[in-house]
Amino acid sequence: MTVLIAGCGDLGTEVGLRLAAGGHRVVGWRRTPSVLPGSIEGVAADLSSAALPTVPADTDVVVIAVAADGRDQAAYRAAYVDGVGRVLDALERDGAVPRRAIFVSSTAVYGEATGPVDETSPTEPSRFNGRLMLEAEQVLLQRLAATATEPVVLRLGGIYGPGRTRLIDQVRSGEAVAPATPRRTNRIHRDDAAAAIVHLAGLPVTPDPVYLGVDDDPAELADVLRFLARELDRPEPPVAASDAPRERGADRTCSNARLRSTGFTFTYPTYVEGYRAVLAGTGVRHP
Ligand SMILES: NC(=O)c1ccc[n+]([C@@H]2O[C@H](COP(=O)([O-])OP(=O)(O)OC[C@H]3O[C@@H](n4cnc5c(N)ncnc54)[C@H](OP(=O)(O)O)[C@@H]3O)[C@@H](O)[C@H]2O)c1
Repeated sequence: MTVLIAGCGDLGTEVGLRLAAGGHRVVGWRRTPSVLPGSIEGVAADLSSAALPTVPADTDVVVIAVAADGRDQAAYRAAYVDGVGRVLDALERDGAVPRRAIFVSSTAVYGEATGPVDETSPTEPSRFNGRLMLEAEQVLLQRLAATATEPVVLRLGGIYGPGRTRLIDQVRSGEAVAPATPRRTNRIHRDDAAAAIVHLAGLPVTPDPVYLGVDDDPAELADVLRFLARELDRPEPPVAASDAPRERGADRTCSNARLRSTGFTFTYPTYVEGYRAVLAGTGVRHP
C-alpha cells in the first residue's frame, strides 16, 4: 500500500520506517524532508500553507502526525486544526480517496478530567491545547463522515522513548520532586505509539473513530520517579510540601481496552520495561 505521513517527525518517521520495512511505499511530508531516511520519500510540505504538494493518487492511508512549533494558541491552531483541514483539502483537490485517515491526537482532550477515562468519556478541556486538539479531531471526523475514507483518531498519552529523557534527566540531576498529592499519569513508549498507528492502518475491519493510545499502567508519577532513581542508583526524589495549582495536572487512569480489543499488543506494557529500554540506549529519536 501507499501511505502518506503528513508531519513526519519522530513518531511519523518511526511509523514510516516500519511500513517501508514491510514493503509499503511511504511518502513523508514536512518542511525539512532532507532529514528523512532513504526508505521514506520526503516531500517538502508546509501544512500551514494552502499550497500543499500533490497527493499520490494511489494513497491508501494518510497519517497526520504533525506537532505544533510552540505552546501557544496560534501554533496549535496552525498545526492541528488548519493542518488537518489542509491535508483534507489536498485529498479533495487531487481526487485521492484513501481507505483510512489517522490523526494523532492527545489525551489533552480530556482536560482536567480525573478518574477512569475511556473513548466514551466526556471531553471538556479547559485549556487551549486540549480545545484545539479536539477541534482538529472534529474537523477530521466531520469532514470524512460521508466519504469512503474511514477517519481514525488516536489519542496518545505522554510519549517517552529514545531521546525523550525529561524525567530521567530530572532524577539524574536531583531536580525531580514527587507531587505532594498522588497523581496518576498515562504514557506510551514511542515505539508502541508507532506500532499502534501501523496496526490501525492495516486493520482489516472498519476501525472505531477514536482510540486511546496509552500503556497498561496509569502509574503514579512518584512511583515512576522512584523507579528511575533505583535504576540510576540515585537518591529517592523528595516529596513536595504542596502542589502549586498549575503543577497539579490531571489525575486519571486512561484505558487501552479498545485498542487492545483490536488485537494490538505492547512491546512496553508499562514504564518499567519502557524506561529500562530507554536507559539501555535502545533506539534513536528521529529528527
Ligand atoms: N509529545 C507527547 O508527549 C505527545 C503526547 C500526545 C500526542 N502527541 C502528538 O504526537 C504527534 C507526533 O509527535 P512527535 O513527537 O513525532 O513530534 P515531532 O518529532 O516534533 O514531529 C512533528 C513533525 O511535524 C513537522 N511539522 C511541524 N509543523 C509543520 C508544518 N507546518 N508543516 C509540515 N510539517 C510540520 C515537523 O517537521 P518540520 O519542522 O521539518 O516541518 C516535525 O518533524 C503530534 O501530533 C503530537 O501532538 C505528542
